[in-house]
Amino acid sequence: MTTSTAATGPSLYELPADHPGSSDQAYRERRAAIAAVGEAYVVGQRIPEVVYTPEEDEVWRMVQSHLTVEHDRYAVAAYRDGAARLALRTDRVPQLQEVSDRLFALTGWRITPVPGLVPTRVFYGSLAERRFMSTQYIRHHSVPFYTPEPDVVHELIGHCNMLAEPRLADLYQLAGDASLRAESDEALEFFSRVFWFSLEFGVLRADGELRTYGAGLLSSYGEIGRFREARIEPFDLRTMGTTDYDISKYQPVLFAAESFDRAYDDLVEFFSTYGEAAYRVRWAGAADEEEAGPGV
Ligand SMILES: [Fe+2]
Repeated sequence: MTTSTAATGPSLYELPADHPGSSDQAYRERRAAIAAVGEAYVVGQRIPEVVYTPEEDEVWRMVQSHLTVEHDRYAVAAYRDGAARLALRTDRVPQLQEVSDRLFALTGWRITPVPGLVPTRVFYGSLAERRFMSTQYIRHHSVPFYTPEPDVVHELIGHCNMLAEPRLADLYQLAGDASLRAESDEALEFFSRVFWFSLEFGVLRADGELRTYGAGLLSSYGEIGRFREARIEPFDLRTMGTTDYDISKYQPVLFAAESFDRAYDDLVEFFSTYGEAAYRVRWAGAADEEEAGPGV
């Protein structure tokens, strides 16, 4: 199926002023037309095909080829294994259905197209069902190495390459399970921050250097080459779960695990045991305790 602007609602056209495509009417209409595919999607259907323009395919080729070089230098081995298994096409923007089919064969994950950002509980909750909610539109061609919002580059290169690696695929599902047990907004917020500082922007030490397993870094050409300049803090779940972040800037603070196995084991433990009760007992009030100081 090709896309049409006819079926789109006005909300799909809205972009924040700092979005590179906000003043480009053709881009906004095109983005809305692709978003409409996700808007109309019903789980269980095959994902309708989007016919990308030559310009959009060129953005994909350019960003993917640059990122692949960067991944050799900066990505953890498990991510590179996943990318090799998924083998995203390099000549044009992959169709979500073809990636979903391949992912399902590899690790049992499927892709659900969505029109844009979805509520936090909905996004994380779908991970428990081994379903990854993915946008389908691509960033503005004027700044191919930057996007202020998730786009198909972030979803496929950042997340789906990881979902093709069996251990990481299981870790994502555990995260989804944990989100379902976080009943209060506070517990979900703590969980979301841990997710942000690990599966979106996590780093770790491997062979004496920092590498990343975070989808946000792995899909950002501008940031992946600079994350080693961030302030690197120890991997500490309490600090991660209570640290603020700004989605629109390069992350000034990152949390580094001492090894992949250490990050993996700690996250498996956290996601497997996290829930409302665990939040109340172990994590709520963390700021008060720190203010009180050690020994109190
Ligand atoms: Fe993401």
